[in-house]
Amino acid sequence: MVNWTKEQEAAINARGSNLLVTAAAGSGKTAVLVQRVINIIIEDGVDIDKLLIVTFTRAAANEMKERIRKAILAALEASGGREENLRRQINLLNKAQISTIHSFCQSVVKNNFHLAEIDPAFKVGEETEMLLLKTEAVEETLEREYEEGQHLFYELLEMFSAGRDDKNLQDLILAIYDFIRSKPDPYGWLKEKVAEFAVSSEDFASSSMAQTIAEQINIQLDGALELIKSGIDIAGKAQGPAHYLPTMEEDYEKIQHLKDILQESLPLFVDHLIHNRFSNLSRARSECDVKLREEAKEYRDGAKDVISNITRHFSG
Ligand SMILES: Nc1ncnc2c1ncn2[C@@H]1O[C@H](COP(=O)(O)OP(=O)(O)O)[C@@H](O)[C@H]1O
Ligand SMILES: [Mg+2]
Repeated sequence: MVNWTKEQEAAINARGSNLLVTAAAGSGKTAVLVQRVINIIIEDGVDIDKLLIVTFTRAAANEMKERIRKAILAALEASGGREENLRRQINLLNKAQISTIHSFCQSVVKNNFHLAEIDPAFKVGEETEMLLLKTEAVEETLEREYEEGQHLFYELLEMFSAGRDDKNLQDLILAIYDFIRSKPDPYGWLKEKVAEFAVSSEDFASSSMAQTIAEQINIQLDGALELIKSGIDIAGKAQGPAHYLPTMEEDYEKIQHLKDILQESLPLFVDHLIHNRFSNLSRARSECDVKLREEAKEYRDGAKDVISNITRHFSG
């Protein structure tokens, strides 16, 4: 007999409410769940096939089933084999709903295919098969849009794809699809979010969308500052490319300035951003370590990339 802890005991015996148990691996969650099931069968007189027990993996479902079987057998043995109810539960165990969430949902759909308007012969797709289907669906959809040739579609293409390749847009659509699928009402949620885009340009600056965008940009600008700072540190080393210092310090000021403006207003920031120019690094011949020079330049180029990546979203 296990000596349950106080918390385990509470989790085993709680009834008539929702119950969430979180605990470290190996701390006895499954054991508690099995004991709950046993008590509900023996003390509350509920048949095992009236319980729904779901897990994430098949292995966990099989483990649950085996542990419940062992626990019932142990209880049966303890009663000297006289408990008729327990013997019955062993038989019921075969049709008990102890499965993965997926397989439970599958059985619900199978048993109610006429309500779901789904072919009862359906099967659950494999990961690779699903990806293929999704890719096909996206390609067909884009194909149709190309044929219709609406102005808005071409604007979308221009914004989210590189040149003649619409792979970026495809990936974006699939990523959005995967994301919304975690919502209870995926397309309702999507519609709602799309509606939020319909704000006037005056209201946009104070919208939560603008705030989120500003926060993201701010993080990226901090990253660019870090990169420039690493470049400056290298340029300041003995044998470092000291002739880079004035330009890189100017870069740092410029990015810091962009950050300050961003705090004030996103539209103002965008205006400054697209007019921002970085000076060229000095080509002065100077005695410095070539490796340090290249390193400093790489950091600086990295920072410039960050800025041009942000700019890309606002120009064109
Ligand atoms: N209070 C306890 N005393 C002794 N052993 C316990 C206790 N609670 C759980 N165990 C044992 O610890 C092991 C791990 O428990 P398990 O339920 O599989 O953990 P989890 O599902 O949280 O990963 C099992 O062998 C279980 O019987
Ligand atoms: Mg477990």
